[in-house]
Amino acid sequence: MLLLMQHLLHSRDLSKVQIEALLERAEHYLPVVQERRKVNDAEGKVLATLFYEPSTRTRFSFETAMLRLGGDVISNAHMQYTSSIKKGETIRDTGTVISHMADIMVMRHPLEGSVDELASASIVPVINAGDGPADHPTQGLLDIFTIKQELGQLEEFTIAMVGDLRYGRVVHAQCAILNHFKRLRFVMVSPEELRMPKEYVDLLKEDGHQVIETEDLEAAAQADVISDTRIQEERFDSHKEYMKYKGVYIITPEFMSKCKKDAILIHPLPRVDEIELAVDEDSRAKYFKQVEYGVAMRMGIIAELLGL
Ligand code: NCD
Repeated sequence: MLLLMQHLLHSRDLSKVQIEALLERAEHYLPVVQERRKVNDAEGKVLATLFYEPSTRTRFSFETAMLRLGGDVISNAHMQYTSSIKKGETIRDTGTVISHMADIMVMRHPLEGSVDELASASIVPVINAGDGPADHPTQGLLDIFTIKQELGQLEEFTIAMVGDLRYGRVVHAQCAILNHFKRLRFVMVSPEELRMPKEYVDLLKEDGHQVIETEDLEAAAQADVISDTRIQEERFDSHKEYMKYKGVYIITPEFMSKCKKDAILIHPLPRVDEIELAVDEDSRAKYFKQVEYGVAMRMGIIAELLGL
């Protein structure tokens, strides 16, 4: 199907048709990931990963995805220290140059909007792997893929988003994507100062979803999906400010005992202290299983953007 996707820059730009097509593509590639195989769909193509911020999963996930698609990878995990930006090059010029080498680019950058600048000068597709606190569309898509696989459908469920909803780009992406589905209930659990930005709450309400905002973690126990996130230390003005919120919500086995038997707990990782290690044994904890869903989703995204 022709989805007319030139780049994948912002979750809010995705249509329901595009989201559903990407879910289908991810499902197609999931066995390749689970059986640790390789296909040759992207043979001869090169993916470049340009990371200006720390990453473990996202960069390796994209690189694994490209390798399992049969393509090749060029990568710089430390663009902020070792690329020509140290010599004063603009992101625009970096974009132009790398797009003359690679067939597709993935960028993570601390500044909102930087990925648009890169894409504006690129002659190949660009994927946003996180732009500051704003958005992280591929993580949002892999989370929605996880929910679909684990719940079997994407309508009429309750999702509790817990933690730093202000600076957490992952929950922003989840809102923008889930907004397209029907009759969802959102329970937003955060400290008052770290509430979900109003634009997302308004967007969900306008589209007929129910949104409850609370500081009380107990409200998350009724949910079908608990989407937990870390307090985003790097986005605070000072360490002192961060310390006010560190450890504010901790998911424990005791909390899980109050949740639904068939609920799922998702988290993009890394975790700091917000999920106790003992919770890993709980079959409702899906955060490690999400890693495979993530590679499959990124295979789907790359394949789509390359028109494979
Ligand atoms: C997230 C990110 O970078 O926004 N991690 C990820 O991509 N897996 C979440 C986070 O860092 O808290």
